[in-house]
Amino acid sequence: MKDPTKVFLENLRATPTDSLFRKERWLTSEESHALQTIIITERIRNYYECGTANGFSAAWALLGVRRQDPGGVVHTWDPYSRTKIWDHPDCPSSVRDGIIYHPQRFDQGMQTDYQRGLGRSLFFIDGDHRLSSVNTDYEAALSRAADDDLIVLHDVLGYAHIGKKFRTWGARGRSAFLPTDRGIGVIWVEK
Ligand SMILES: C[S@@+](CC[C@H](N)C(=O)[O-])C[C@H]1O[C@@H](n2cnc3c(N)ncnc32)[C@H](O)[C@@H]1O
Repeated sequence: MKDPTKVFLENLRATPTDSLFRKERWLTSEESHALQTIIITERIRNYYECGTANGFSAAWALLGVRRQDPGGVVHTWDPYSRTKIWDHPDCPSSVRDGIIYHPQRFDQGMQTDYQRGLGRSLFFIDGDHRLSSVNTDYEAALSRAADDDLIVLHDVLGYAHIGKKFRTWGARGRSAFLPTDRGIGVIWVEK
């Protein structure tokens, strides 16, 4: 039987934008599956996200993390508190229980309320897409990342300056580009 959370998320993504959510901000269906697959195949235990919006990508990440650790949680930061998908009446309670939302900027959160768990970590950057903010958020993630952790950038194709940054940062070691609609860049941290 298909996971009820997965069914909920897929149905929600497939329905047209409504008054609660601006789904054009969200990962596409393909990108959500890609994020979950990276988390599962790379055996990621800790997920730290820049850019919660309504909590859609965080919920997909939680599905991946819980494949390694059924009691696992994910952390996500966004200074703008928007309606969350777990406020939707059909959302399974496991989503609300597993996502720790911090109403704060990601770079601040990395300084004040970051707690490292056991195992590998993935830092997902999908916040303020301006060049200076992407630089700040990447450096904040890098300051907390350990050797062999992952930093994943969204919108590598959507914004030329993010694509350029990904090529620079990715060239320092191992990296991979996933050619989704807006492009996902994966960087393996080497320390
Ligand atoms: C493209 S949306 C994120 C979509 C989400 N990752 C998803 O797919 O469900 C970008 C979000 O980043 C937030 N944001 C802007 N600046 C930020 C910052 N410094 N730290 C964290 N989030 C930020 C915005 O408020 C917005 O909700």
